[in-house]
Amino acid sequence: MSVQPLFTPVRVGDLDLPNRIVMAPLTRMRASSVDHVPTLLQAEYYAQRASAGLIVAEATAISPDGFGWADTPGLWSAEQVRGWRRVTEAVHAAGGRIIAQLWHTGAIAHPDMRDGEPPLSASDVDLLHESVTPTGRKPTVAPRPMTREEIGQTVADFARAARNAVEAGFDGVQILANYLYLLAQFLNRTTNRRADEYGGEIENRARLLFEVVEAVLGEVDPSRVGVKISPMHEGGPMAAHDETLPMVEYAVRELSGYGLSHLLLMGNNTDFTGTPLEPLMGDGMFRHFRPIFRGRLIANVNMTAERGNRLIADGLADMVAFGRPYIANPDLVERLATGAPLADVDWETVYGSGPRGYSDYPTTRQAAA
Ligand SMILES: Cc1cc2nc3c(=O)[nH]c(=O)nc-3n(C[C@H](O)[C@H](O)[C@H](O)COP(=O)(O)O)c2cc1C
Repeated sequence: MSVQPLFTPVRVGDLDLPNRIVMAPLTRMRASSVDHVPTLLQAEYYAQRASAGLIVAEATAISPDGFGWADTPGLWSAEQVRGWRRVTEAVHAAGGRIIAQLWHTGAIAHPDMRDGEPPLSASDVDLLHESVTPTGRKPTVAPRPMTREEIGQTVADFARAARNAVEAGFDGVQILANYLYLLAQFLNRTTNRRADEYGGEIENRARLLFEVVEAVLGEVDPSRVGVKISPMHEGGPMAAHDETLPMVEYAVRELSGYGLSHLLLMGNNTDFTGTPLEPLMGDGMFRHFRPIFRGRLIANVNMTAERGNRLIADGLADMVAFGRPYIANPDLVERLATGAPLADVDWETVYGSGPRGYSDYPTTRQAAA
């Protein structure tokens, strides 16, 4: 019987992974709500998932200014570093590997979490989305454009968070540059209306991303640094337009030159039909970006064992990342290997507190016993 590509080892940067299954970053809102320190519960949850070739930990704020989602963790204080150390030690003890995802929420934050002050972004464009505050979901507000000094501070904060990640025992970091958050807000023509060197042409809007990448590389070897970026289509100002694809192509091409450990690329997670991204639906995303990025490519969104095996066999990806399936299947690797059925997610408890719907999903073996 031939070995499925998913279960063959792979070297990513300077990490040797026993399989090509990646746990995608998943915000689960189980950190301490006061000081944003990861909890013992999080250590247990991640250790349960240590059979993944690689775990990308949930998005983690780089600074108080970058914090903008209730009950999520940070990586700026000594207590947070200590909290994360318990997580990385638990994962390593269980035989796994885990990297931190560095996050600045930008305009998605809310004045409720900022002493009444508006969140910071490239410009004052309201994302017309939802903020997750300590008292529930609320409509986003118009952010305040960052000063040049605040941009410089943000770059320094990314570097400090990367340094803290290493100190906390993480095996590397991933810079979160897609979806609705700060770096994507700078990249996007609609949300970045700046007239200085951080706005205008694509090269200028990408300046912050590359300053962040270079600052992080000042702290962590490129073989331990990755980026999550993708052309996305969301409602409101983050809707795809004629320049969405050229912008991400530019960013990915430039990222190629840094010898990074990986690129985590999402396929379509919304319907691209009728948008400029329509040709990238399904495997089109990976077919398009594979030749542009020189380095390990992790393909994500709606993966199955069959699809993952095919993408790797066809040379369209090196690894595949599973997000939602990891919520209810701590032993996802074993289930994919044996063809055991996957458990369903209880969506009521995804963004909850406590172990229910978090660390109490059984493995197949536990369920059978
Ligand atoms: C509950 C939940 C939380 C998520 N949190 C994050 C996050 O913190 N950082 C991130 O980059 N993506 C996040 N995502 C996106 C996932 O990493 C992944 O890209 C997405 O779920 C698609 O993969 P899937 O089809 O395997 O679920 C989240 C998705 C879900 C469902």
